[in-house]
Amino acid sequence: MKIFSKKKDLKDCLLAHRSDNKTVGFVPTMGALHSGHLSLIKEAQQKNDIVVVSLFVNPTQFDSAEDLKKYPKTIKNDIELLDSVSCDILFTPSVEEIYENNISSENFNFDGLEHQMEGKFRKGHFNGVGTVVKTLFKIVAPHKAYFGQKDFQQLQIIKKMVEKHSLKVEVKGCPIFRQPDGLAMSSRNVRLSKKQKAAAPFVYKVLQEVRIKFNTQSVLEITQWVEGQFKNHPTLQLEYFTVADEKSLESIETKEGFKKYRAFIAVFADEIRLIDNLQLENL
Ligand code: PAF
Repeated sequence: MKIFSKKKDLKDCLLAHRSDNKTVGFVPTMGALHSGHLSLIKEAQQKNDIVVVSLFVNPTQFDSAEDLKKYPKTIKNDIELLDSVSCDILFTPSVEEIYENNISSENFNFDGLEHQMEGKFRKGHFNGVGTVVKTLFKIVAPHKAYFGQKDFQQLQIIKKMVEKHSLKVEVKGCPIFRQPDGLAMSSRNVRLSKKQKAAAPFVYKVLQEVRIKFNTQSVLEITQWVEGQFKNHPTLQLEYFTVADEKSLESIETKEGFKKYRAFIAVFADEIRLIDNLQLENL
């Protein structure tokens, strides 16, 4: 695997591949890689000639300096994992290489997608994500880019950015990768204590129950039930639960035919934030 930290070196290398008519697949990450990331890389390898993975902990998408500081950094292990799946290129730029002298976000209009769910609780988060992903797309100029559906709102926002800014990249959403106990894979999971690890799969159990209830109960009844599940939970605190339209990401009260809905949830295990979502059947 080739490893670059400078934009210019990466661009030169990709230019040579492009002149051989090779297609480039891109998987942006913040490192602390896990099987979920590897599933994105495998998907990218199946559909492209060359796969580039970026590893960059983006400061502008964190709304708390403490959270940024505590974000897991496991670069040695990440390189071993990428080598083990025969990734072609790793791009690990410094903050200066991406932001030069101006560590700030562009102000995006994602047609309201940014005001829902995560946007309400993590101020400026999606401006930070949009800024770094747009910058990385400009550097890598991939044919296709791969994102996990665990961050479903992020995925929809990146698709919107590509559409609104006429970027020449196809954005692909890939299914959530779960542990055998149902917990959605996340880089943050390594920070969970033994007790928190044991409790965390409850989030997916609740979502599965929501999926069943969605056939017969109102959204209000389901929401009250979910709130009840976490009310006296010894380890997990509910931040939000909502049922939203997949396209607009707006919360709904009643379902309409032919629309796709998803249940979204965010919980805290102490200061560690876990998010998950599940597509619902609209019968
Ligand atoms: O999902 C992530 O890991 C990050 O938000 C991303 C897309 C790599 C941007 O920093």
